[in-house]
Amino acid sequence: MKRSEINDIIRAGDDFIRSFGFRLPPFAYWSPEEMRARRAEIGGIVGARLGWDITDFGQERFAETGLFLFTMRNGSEEDLRRGGGMCYAEKIMISRQGQVTPLHRHIVKAEDIINRGGGVLALKLFDSDAEGKVDEESEVEVATDGVLRRQAAGAILRLRPGESVTLRPGNWHAFWGEEGDVLVGEVSTVNNDLTDNIFADPVGRFAEIEEDEAPLHLLVSDYPKWFA
Ligand SMILES: [Fe+2]
Repeated sequence: MKRSEINDIIRAGDDFIRSFGFRLPPFAYWSPEEMRARRAEIGGIVGARLGWDITDFGQERFAETGLFLFTMRNGSEEDLRRGGGMCYAEKIMISRQGQVTPLHRHIVKAEDIINRGGGVLALKLFDSDAEGKVDEESEVEVATDGVLRRQAAGAILRLRPGESVTLRPGNWHAFWGEEGDVLVGEVSTVNNDLTDNIFADPVGRFAEIEEDEAPLHLLVSDYPKWFA
């Protein structure tokens, strides 16, 4: 993706989020230079990889295969191993109409995926087989707002605004917006996007970026380079 495209997606995504009365935290609007100047006090942002995350999953077709994410909070894997403390994370995301997040599962993370407003959030769900691969046959059982629901392998679950689903590690999921763009919430176990995403098909988790203009804001995937 070109950096200019990412900057445009950030501006449009911020407008969309604000249209629901939702607000991002202050550091969302810091320039790259301001982040660099404040490096000593933002270990909690850089270390937990909080912030903007615009991805086309390496496919270079963001409108068809892509996701807008902003990580607002993320706990500590050490706390998780210890079994107490900050074991949670929260993201706000945008799934545009027909824009697919490719089929994947997590190893550690359970996540509640929430339709926070807009269109309908469609999720294609599969269970895992004994080897952790996509189970094309078995029914999937998930809880939607605390209510157990069983559906055929590969069937589509549709969440309207206010509805959510709890996905356990091993639940394969792909999702996209229908009947409009969707503001999507995620409340989860501690999140590690470097190690905890298994994709069914060979795609990347982050975009390859061509620097055709200066970044409006840094992406989480820019941190290692900017804060080496
Ligand atoms: Fe996921």
